[in-house]
Amino acid sequence: MKILGIETSCDETACAVVEDGWKVLSNVIYSQIDLHAKTGGVVPEVAAREHVLKMIPVLEEAIVEAEIGWEEIDAVAVTRGPGLLSSLIIGTETANVISYAKGKILIPVQHIAGHIYSNWLEAGGWEKEGLLASLATVKFPVLILTVSGGHNELILMRGHGDFEMLGETRDDAAGEAFDKVARILGLGYPGGPAISRMAEGGNAERFKLPRIFLEKGSLDFSFSGLKTAVLNEVKKTPLTEQDEEFKKDMAASFQEAVVEVLAEKLMSAYKAHPDVKELHLAGGVSANKRLREAIQKRIDETGNTGEAIKFRYPSSLRYCTDNAAMIAAAAYFIYKKSPENYRAATNIVPTTSFEMW
Ligand code: KG4
Ligand code: ZN
Repeated sequence: MKILGIETSCDETACAVVEDGWKVLSNVIYSQIDLHAKTGGVVPEVAAREHVLKMIPVLEEAIVEAEIGWEEIDAVAVTRGPGLLSSLIIGTETANVISYAKGKILIPVQHIAGHIYSNWLEAGGWEKEGLLASLATVKFPVLILTVSGGHNELILMRGHGDFEMLGETRDDAAGEAFDKVARILGLGYPGGPAISRMAEGGNAERFKLPRIFLEKGSLDFSFSGLKTAVLNEVKKTPLTEQDEEFKKDMAASFQEAVVEVLAEKLMSAYKAHPDVKELHLAGGVSANKRLREAIQKRIDETGNTGEAIKFRYPSSLRYCTDNAAMIAAAAYFIYKKSPENYRAATNIVPTTSFEMW
């Protein structure tokens, strides 16, 4: 089954064609990063106007790159929310029109569910092994740490489309904290890649920044206090001392504080759910190398006796941040569960609500 995915929830205009939920035939992403770098963040009105300009060219490119005709596309999947309403509507309207005009089945996808399915895309040599191997490879239950710009959750997934929220952000999501701290340090937008580059060779021990774990046993996250601690440290340091060395050490100290909390919370959730077979990392911050290393280290330290726990993160950096391939992948597995729920020429309305489906 070939699904055309469309994603416009924030500042990426993206279209992709994915076969059977894992094989990426095309994955076109137009990023508005350069545009928003000028304002140091996304201005919703500007993002929406850019989506309008890029939607059709990106769509056409995805079809051409997939080397298929419209008649070979079985369904259209689109991000319904959460996200910026004015951005989402460009994607949903495009999907609605395609569905009406070409009689394609419409599948709405929740954005975070999309990120979760980025771990199904061509991961770990599945492409070589084939579809059956790919489906057989992921073992439920899976515990997922989603770390993106807008959201930060711990989710227990017992099967396709079966999600239980174990913890979520109470204020700034991890990616948002990266973006805000990068802004404080004058490192530009987006902050995640800028901070991790700056942190290389920095002294992560120089600044004693807080690790906020909240109440005992809580699997929720809070990063706004950490951001304020960075701001206070920067304010009390004379400008002349805020040199390259200072920024490197601050970036490294901040990154380490975020990574430690994320990795520890994931392991606490795992301890509370020992039947979990796989740990997955998804969302923009899953691109962070230190975070991957910190989780792997903790897994190794558990000295797993029985069957080893499998740790996955998206197989390509292009699947970590917003893309439409993950939307098409999620749509496939959700559609397969109950195909009778989906048909052509329905009308998808965007939403800012977080509700999983
Ligand atoms: O998932 P995503 O593309 O968008 C949302 O759904 O929000 O995540 C974007 C976030 C941004 O905050 C960006 O700074 C962060 O992911 N990010 C990173 C890295 N690459 C992107 N954060 C830390 N380290 C990175 N290497
Ligand atoms: Zn996202």
